[in-house]
Amino acid sequence: MSTENNFFQEKVIVIDFGGQYNQLVARRVRECNVYCEIYSYRTDIEQIKAMNPKGIILTGGPNSCYEPGAPTYTKELFELGIPVLGLCYGAQLMMHVLGGKVEKAPVREYGKTEVFVDTTSPLFADVAPTTICWMSHFDYISQIAPGFSIVAHTADCPVAAAENREKKLFAIQFHPEVLHTQEGTKMLHNFVRGVCGCAGNWRMDSFVENSIREIREKVGNGKVLCALSGGVDSSVAAVMLAKAIGDQLTCVFVDHGLLRKNEGDEVEEVFGPNGPYELNFIRVNAQQRFYEKLAGVEEPEKKRKIIGEEFIRVFEEEAKKIGAVDFLVQGTIYPDVVESGLGGESAVIKSHHNVGGLPDCVDFKEIIEPLRNLFKDEVRKAGLELGIPEKLVFRQPFPGPGLGIRIIGEVTADKVRIVQDADAIYREEIAKAGYDRSVGQYFAALTNMRSVGVMGDERTYDYAVALRAVNTIDFMTAEAAEIPFAVLQTVTSRIINEVRGVNRVFYDLTSKPPGTIEFE
Ligand code: XMP
Repeated sequence: MSTENNFFQEKVIVIDFGGQYNQLVARRVRECNVYCEIYSYRTDIEQIKAMNPKGIILTGGPNSCYEPGAPTYTKELFELGIPVLGLCYGAQLMMHVLGGKVEKAPVREYGKTEVFVDTTSPLFADVAPTTICWMSHFDYISQIAPGFSIVAHTADCPVAAAENREKKLFAIQFHPEVLHTQEGTKMLHNFVRGVCGCAGNWRMDSFVENSIREIREKVGNGKVLCALSGGVDSSVAAVMLAKAIGDQLTCVFVDHGLLRKNEGDEVEEVFGPNGPYELNFIRVNAQQRFYEKLAGVEEPEKKRKIIGEEFIRVFEEEAKKIGAVDFLVQGTIYPDVVESGLGGESAVIKSHHNVGGLPDCVDFKEIIEPLRNLFKDEVRKAGLELGIPEKLVFRQPFPGPGLGIRIIGEVTADKVRIVQDADAIYREEIAKAGYDRSVGQYFAALTNMRSVGVMGDERTYDYAVALRAVNTIDFMTAEAAEIPFAVLQTVTSRIINEVRGVNRVFYDLTSKPPGTIEFE
């Protein structure tokens, strides 16, 4: 999709120095209704200039800016007349490049810290004179650059923030993007809306409207094919397309028999012939095919491969029946773009198979990626704008290979039934207890362990179900969530009473690393 419409004209650029909160910076800026994109510090200044940003934010990073070879940026960046905000490493780099001094700090600051701010600085307008911020640094600014003045300090950090108000250059040692910084969002708002003068026209309602218009123009009378997985991204993309072009769109939904309980029918309810959209919907009930391919296979990577390959095969068969199409829809979202190395600086950590994402075996001319510029929370907002049911919009992340990788060992139809039923109970109770929106990701998995139990005076020899619930910012690291014991007890007794074949339930306390979020 083109990024040339008026939405994207008012843009703030985040220059990524490899810190852990970089996507978070961009998300927080977008929460201020300002569109924002992430670029690596290796991006040429001419490219930055050509984008004509209203402001530039330099992120944190793991290096020391005074060390040879450390990531840096040309001084010219600060001379463009565009407001620049440096955060943590970005703040130190700004001082370093402009003639200040950065050294190893005598006291390393880490965690929530009291900071004293000068509220006459445009950055700190309406911020309390003493406020809590999140610090994480081992270097510090020992001397500010000429033309700057100090506008915040802490007990251990003489320069918690500095500004050159006239040149609109600001440096903050702490992390306003992290929620522990109590007034961080206000500070970022002050920068992008106040200092940079952005009007704040980045809104999901107008984004959706605009995208629909653009899709219509681009597609014309063309034929479009979309692989629907039932996940949030492909569903939002499909509805957007359906609203734009109606029955020029064909959605193929492959039910591989590894979906959550009732999920296949729920997808059909929304997209099928009785749903609200006039599109061509093809549901392929390929359950048996997948179970046959998976019979006797225990190794998780092998299972992933089989499911991925079989998916493509099924999809290919359907695509052949449809014939040549003009466009293929993909549910790519912005973190995929950044993580694949096209945007920021983050290392490529995972290259997941995505059932939603796609084969090169289909005869098409062009790809349409209507969500390419959106973060996950924005995709959800767009979904709500499009009128997609909340149940679908707030669906948990779900791996492409589905329950196939939440069943340890061989996958069988009976094991799928067990994990589907246990998971449905778990989700129902978590929602009842009010944790469904606050916990990052939670699900039931089936261990391959069977053990002896006793039920109604009878000996049992049944499976153990594992419950997983984690909190995570970026899915790269995660902590086990603190689900109240009473909730876990209710879930446990319901699973054991209601799901045939289970006589034990475990709660997984492992964080990531060393574990992973999935249980495969
Ligand atoms: P792991 O298990 O790698 O999971 O810690 C991190 C996040 O990624 C999801 N996940 C997948 N998502 N296709 C996907 O679209 C996959 O193959 C896949 N495997 C894991 C997982 O649910 C978690 O949110």
